[in-house]
Amino acid sequence: MPARAEPEPCREQDLGLFEIVVRDGAARIGRLHTLHGSLQTPTLLPVINPNLRTIEPREMWEKYGVDALITNSYVIWKHDDLKEKALSDGIHSLLDYPGVVMTDSGTFQSYVYGDVEVGVGEIVDFQRDIGVDIGTMLDVFGRPDMSREELEDCVQETVSRAPESLQAAGKKMLLNGPIQGGTHQDLRAEAASLMGSAKGEGRGFCVHPLGGIVPLMEKQRYRELFEALMAARSTIPSDRPIHMFGCGHPMLFPMAIALGADLFDSAAYALFARDDRLLSPEGTVKLEGLTEWPVSSAALFGRTTEEVREMDKDERSTLLAHHNLEVTQTELARCREAVREGRIWQLAERRSHANPQLREAFLWVLDQLEEMPDEPSGETALQMLASTNPVRMGREDLSEDVGSRPHILHLHALLSMRWRVPGSWWDGSEGKPERVVIIDSVPPPWRMSALGAAVEALLENPRSLVMIPTPLGPIPFSMEDVSPWCHLECSDETWLEVFDDEEIWEGLEELGLEDMPLVRASPVEIPDGKKSSEIRQWLDRCSIVDKLSVLCAVPPIEACKLTGEMEVRRSNTDRIVNVFDNQQHILSPRLNDGGISLALEGASRLNSNPNPPALFGEPLSDPDNDHPGIPRVRLLEDAIPFVGKGRNVMHGYIRGADPHLIPGQPCLVVDDAGNLVAHGLAITTPREMSQLSKGVAVRVREGALRGD
Ligand code: GUN
Repeated sequence: MPARAEPEPCREQDLGLFEIVVRDGAARIGRLHTLHGSLQTPTLLPVINPNLRTIEPREMWEKYGVDALITNSYVIWKHDDLKEKALSDGIHSLLDYPGVVMTDSGTFQSYVYGDVEVGVGEIVDFQRDIGVDIGTMLDVFGRPDMSREELEDCVQETVSRAPESLQAAGKKMLLNGPIQGGTHQDLRAEAASLMGSAKGEGRGFCVHPLGGIVPLMEKQRYRELFEALMAARSTIPSDRPIHMFGCGHPMLFPMAIALGADLFDSAAYALFARDDRLLSPEGTVKLEGLTEWPVSSAALFGRTTEEVREMDKDERSTLLAHHNLEVTQTELARCREAVREGRIWQLAERRSHANPQLREAFLWVLDQLEEMPDEPSGETALQMLASTNPVRMGREDLSEDVGSRPHILHLHALLSMRWRVPGSWWDGSEGKPERVVIIDSVPPPWRMSALGAAVEALLENPRSLVMIPTPLGPIPFSMEDVSPWCHLECSDETWLEVFDDEEIWEGLEELGLEDMPLVRASPVEIPDGKKSSEIRQWLDRCSIVDKLSVLCAVPPIEACKLTGEMEVRRSNTDRIVNVFDNQQHILSPRLNDGGISLALEGASRLNSNPNPPALFGEPLSDPDNDHPGIPRVRLLEDAIPFVGKGRNVMHGYIRGADPHLIPGQPCLVVDDAGNLVAHGLAITTPREMSQLSKGVAVRVREGALRGD
């Protein structure tokens, strides 16, 4: 195998910056820029004990693609030979490792053995002098069994050591700013806010580890672990990756990542191996008593359990450590791929069944998402939902928890907040709807299976609200091709079954239709005739109006104006491909997820709000409006010529963004006077746009200043 190339140092101006490359709600694929490479996250930094290298760092780099590792600077500092070599040759040479080196500071030793002898500035000086990429200040370990007063002291003492530590780190070393606070949500949130705003003369902290969580993991107190993560996340600045100190069991990765954790470190691969235990994404397996391998790896392949049990102790632990590291790396790769596919939540949901404590923790998180309590975890739950693209491609697997997935909660919240009954009907009449017609026993695609019944219901009474029943509740026929609804993976029996009136009523109540007479209809052929085609045209228009108002916050009246004279081009599977008005292409339905893709003409017509978005930090003019218009991003003047010609909007060039902007959905880019500069898809949230300084914020589809 050819040797893996050494990493490239980042550009000087990027050192310590974190960017979000892909996101799935709170989960993100990010990049942290360092002098030993741009570190892709989420990732795990294996712990290297400099006195006992179970797997050589060089092998981790070459064979396992480990881009970053963590070792302990206090252990090196205490050991004369190691200290001397580290000071003369540097930490990368001491470890024989070319990637990112993070070090810890001795705090964990003080938790295990009592006090440490090193000073606050001294240990950071040492980490800087041995060429560490990401050091750690000497924080004060807050044990979960401490009293509230003691935990407050841990937070305060850690915060008070921050300026000296940041000062000592200098220009080149990045620093971890640990967040303590035990199991008190308010203390975690306060610690995160204080550590997040701490400054030395140069930059602040670049990474925020969650500290004091090892005792929670040892006792499998996962609910409190994730509670601490959610609480801290409510106030950690978005431009800082979150590290879970000492968290390395693969079973915990999907959920931690789904809640926004970016970095993990752990000696579990080596410690468990020494104890003859195998890691698996579904828990830990004891070697003793195994007949075959319940979890596979290249390390174990071709060996029998018997053979491994009979190995010499050291050889066996090294082999099992290789297995454990491999399984850990594989699960992280699986998580990153799930983020790219928009399926991290489904993976977390699946893994939650691995262990009763993990399941309890998962159910607690679902409660936060549904109830949004008035505490830091509720604030994080709200941020999570708002940052989750509600529509997505691909199949949606059914499970007992399907309705609580963040993108589905978000989609249903948008539907109940923004969907409105039509203002006028296909026959030109106006006024209130007279009934709800539910079309029973129809599987998707509903434009094929339910269209006939929809047309017939509207012929019979033009003021009918036609709805499709789904296991997630009834949806308006106008949203029939919106995924996940149309991609729910149900058996034929589920689709053919008739949903109970009670389930239907619950859904109708969400949409404010509980007082409407309800009629059930069955599928029929599409009726012929002029009226039928008029109805179909009206249904096409409803579909565009409803998607614009539900997904893009366009006031329904404006969406009606935009589509008043609309004409469509259809695909050979009878789906609308383009929407025109006066021969001008204004938008297209997105065929893969049922959302809306604007064309420049549509973007320009929808840019009707005379006031540009408020600047970051300024109060909003109308915070309670359900349809505040298509969300906009307000650009810094310097970037206008570039973005106007179609370049992406980069972080650092944004002055304000509408708070209802949703990642993955269309947005406009405007100047200070509110003029259109471009339109595109938001990648990050308004909060992230105000805090990040690197990476793409809006993927621009078209600049409005082309040819100028
Ligand atoms: N390793 C595990 N937990 C901690 C912690 O709280 N602080 C530091 N510095 N290292 C840790």
